[in-house]
Amino acid sequence: MKAEINGIQMGFEIIGETGLPIVLIHGFGLNRSIWKAMAENYLSAHTVILPDLRGHGESQVTKGAYSMEVLAEDLSKLLDFLNCDKAVICGHSMGGYVTLAFAEKFPERFSGLGLITTHAAADSEAKQKDRHQMVEAIRENGTVVLAESLAPKLTKDESIRRQSHQILAGTDTDGIIGALMGMAERPSRMDLFPKIEVPVLVVAGKEDQIIDVDMARQMANSLPQGRFLLIKDAGHMPMIEAPKALGEGLEWLLSKVKLDKG
Ligand code: MLT
Repeated sequence: MKAEINGIQMGFEIIGETGLPIVLIHGFGLNRSIWKAMAENYLSAHTVILPDLRGHGESQVTKGAYSMEVLAEDLSKLLDFLNCDKAVICGHSMGGYVTLAFAEKFPERFSGLGLITTHAAADSEAKQKDRHQMVEAIRENGTVVLAESLAPKLTKDESIRRQSHQILAGTDTDGIIGALMGMAERPSRMDLFPKIEVPVLVVAGKEDQIIDVDMARQMANSLPQGRFLLIKDAGHMPMIEAPKALGEGLEWLLSKVKLDKG
């Protein structure tokens, strides 16, 4: 499905039509397809909203940096379009950065959060430099450069690597560059944590080569209603590597939100 949202054509789909609305936001260079099997098999009793972020999947590509705030605003406008006041917002990796920007900007619009293989710190100078070098490399040689370097870090599973490589290489050059520049300039959102009063699930993959497990555990501990879930058979892509374990974690989050609402 596509609609005009926040001045761009946005691709999204909805799985299930009953129960609490939950938004699942994909990570950098990927698209909504990563969630589909998990959502269909383990969350079908809810209304699962799967957006493609600006510049990714079927969503329109715009030029320039995609700040995490703009990506969060796109999602808030998508919720308006769907007549949905509040949802449980969950993000994977860069989708987690967008989730935290959403939490800061729209505190009245979420009843729970899921932070999946992600973190809240800003980029170090070295990381920003890497991102700018990657922008240059992509300008010269296309998105395949990113696919070659990122896909092997996402998972140990060969077929999930191939699947991720294909998505990354197929994402538009300006979309990838916009996201890289937006991530490089994002602020730290660690200060936000003590103020988040709703249930939050923090998920880490034991084999994750990108996100440090201890950092994720500390995030969960600094949240008033945080729960930490370590998935032992997953790296950076638990929605595909261990869909049952992640689906059960999200079920817990949704049941906690429901209880809180009474
Ligand atoms: C992601 O998977 O979204 C990225 O690895 C996040 C990042 O580069 O910081």
